[in-house]
Amino acid sequence: MREASQHARLLALREEINEHNRLYYREDAPRVSDADYDRLMLELNEIERAHPDWVSPDSPTQRVGATPLAAFGSVRHAVRMLSLGNAFEAEDIRSFDERVSGTLREAGLLGDGVVEYVAEYKFDGLAVSLRYEDGLLVQAATRGDGQTGEDITANMRTVRSVPLRLAGQAPAVLEVRGEVLMARRDFEHLNAVQAARGDKIFVNPRNAAAGSLRQLDPHITAARPLRFYAYGWGDIQGVSGHGALFGDALLPYETHEQMLEWLAGFDLPVSPHYHRCQGAQGLLDFYAKVGATRASLPFEIDGVVYKVNALRAQEILGYVARAPRFAIAHKFPAQEALTVLLGIDVQVGRTGAITPVGRLKPVFVGGVTVTNATLHNEDEIRRKDVRVGDTVIVRRAGDVIPEIVGPVLDLRSADAVVFDMRALFPNCPVCGSAIERPEGEAVARCTGALFCPAQRKQTLWHAASRKALDIEGLGDKLIDQLVDSGRVNTLADLYTLGELELSGYPRMGLKSARNLVAAIARARHPALSRLLYALGIRHVGETTARDLAQHFGSIDALMAASEDALLQINEVGPAVVASVQRFFAEPHNREVIEALRAVGVEPVSDAPIQGQKQFAGKTFVLTGTMPTLTRDEATALILAAGGKVSGSVSRKTAWVIAGEEAGSKLTKAHELGVPVLDEDGLKALLAQT
Ligand code: IVH
Repeated sequence: MREASQHARLLALREEINEHNRLYYREDAPRVSDADYDRLMLELNEIERAHPDWVSPDSPTQRVGATPLAAFGSVRHAVRMLSLGNAFEAEDIRSFDERVSGTLREAGLLGDGVVEYVAEYKFDGLAVSLRYEDGLLVQAATRGDGQTGEDITANMRTVRSVPLRLAGQAPAVLEVRGEVLMARRDFEHLNAVQAARGDKIFVNPRNAAAGSLRQLDPHITAARPLRFYAYGWGDIQGVSGHGALFGDALLPYETHEQMLEWLAGFDLPVSPHYHRCQGAQGLLDFYAKVGATRASLPFEIDGVVYKVNALRAQEILGYVARAPRFAIAHKFPAQEALTVLLGIDVQVGRTGAITPVGRLKPVFVGGVTVTNATLHNEDEIRRKDVRVGDTVIVRRAGDVIPEIVGPVLDLRSADAVVFDMRALFPNCPVCGSAIERPEGEAVARCTGALFCPAQRKQTLWHAASRKALDIEGLGDKLIDQLVDSGRVNTLADLYTLGELELSGYPRMGLKSARNLVAAIARARHPALSRLLYALGIRHVGETTARDLAQHFGSIDALMAASEDALLQINEVGPAVVASVQRFFAEPHNREVIEALRAVGVEPVSDAPIQGQKQFAGKTFVLTGTMPTLTRDEATALILAAGGKVSGSVSRKTAWVIAGEEAGSKLTKAHELGVPVLDEDGLKALLAQT
């Protein structure tokens, strides 16, 4: 009896552990802490140690093999592993589609219609083939030269989203092909751990995944958070059914999409982000859509892949050399490139932060030519061991500021120079004030505050930005000139600019001068929250500015507020309080506020809109990508209904609005029992009156 209940516990543990693996590695929504997970594994291990005859090869305890290998064996692929042709331009995709439709029309497989494709992500990892026999994972191999790869079975067993046994009725042989990769979050965490131990830092997730797979000791691989996504197959034997005959193989289904669903049915991790597309235009639409969300995905993709959906059509189209004619990779502009670091300058930010900036030999990356890239701070330069003269990897992802990932050590020349910020920049290079490096902080700061023209310029630029006073036409070049000529020293001075005067500045016609003066005039009566945000008080972002504005109603009330009064506000903590009080204690800042009043700047209150009070005081948190609304649009809808939007989930959160690829905020919501809605749910909620 005790035996029976122990065995039942063992089965329950295995199931629970597999479920946690799925939640973590597939849904990005872990539900337990690492410690809880480890406890479950420990309990399972104990039961198995007491009952060695209960250990089965598909138990989660059997993922990590006992002994390191001396070398990887080689594996001859039963069916060749192919690669894909690449395309970069829309034009290439149109010709691909023309070739495909031409061949299929000739073969009588396409009437007047367009070709149906399945478009998938092009995962930026390493191709791997998994062989299952009678449902059990028996072998895993790298692509190698396509014919022969390396045997990485022990390592792939440690990848927790790879089932050790297929679910359901598996065929006699099933070879699954897919990509091994590391999610960005896991990559960053791994690098932090590596850095803390003084171990090797990986330059990107792909590299980290490759390095992790190449370990002869599977214990090391097991400690690396790798994932696998299936997108194809190789050898298949012993399927029943009436599907397509492909080469010598009888496939159970007629289309690629059905094959993916079939694979997913065995509990193999198939990314849900594939999409059926019609004709070239359908493909290009998918490309544009994925391109726009690429930067917010949990892992990196370097393009999308298009595959003709009908398997019969795939077979007719056949292959050229090592790539199929029925599929093509449509790549995004590379996000990383190599170039030479010519020098390092420093830039002074709005709060005085001194940021080292690498001057680069111009390089085309991420779709633009890059000549400067951030190096973050001095510690970072030291940690990465970047030297002037090095060949470096430059990365530009989406609209993110280009950064220097690291040097290519193999290409380092003997005269590369270590950067010594203290020696080169003892004082602020812009205003000459002392540079302060607070103990324990990575960031060095110019102490010149608004005496420093660089900080003044940045402050004006921030104040004019869209989410602050939204002064269109006040660009950074003009700000440079206004500050350098001494004409504008503070925000208040902006309001005294006239048309004629402005039209005298280079590249300013009378028309643009007139438009700018009109835009400045409109900014005389901003919402109080916008004005507070525009002042650039440290730690006062948009949301906090809104909270402060709604709570105090006027600048005077805020300036007079005690620490206690400030702490009354939800989400306002000691850091914000200290920063607000420090700001208003500064005589110069008080002068600016007086000057603003003197030039007629009068903020209007931004109380919630009347009549929709049911969301007054309710806080929403947004996470993930919504199908149609942007984050700003969703925020605007919520604010218009009297609600608030916060960046972090707490017990006080009324709703979490989760889109695709929602991350830790969603997990937190589940933990705290906060209700979760999707975009439609949000719209329905707001529609209730
Ligand atoms: S299909 C017969 N689909 O891209 C076609 N490959 O450049 C075989 N890759 O070696 C590949 N995502 O490592 C396919 N959704 C996807 C993919 C994908 C990434 C990689 C794979 C392949 C390389 C070809």
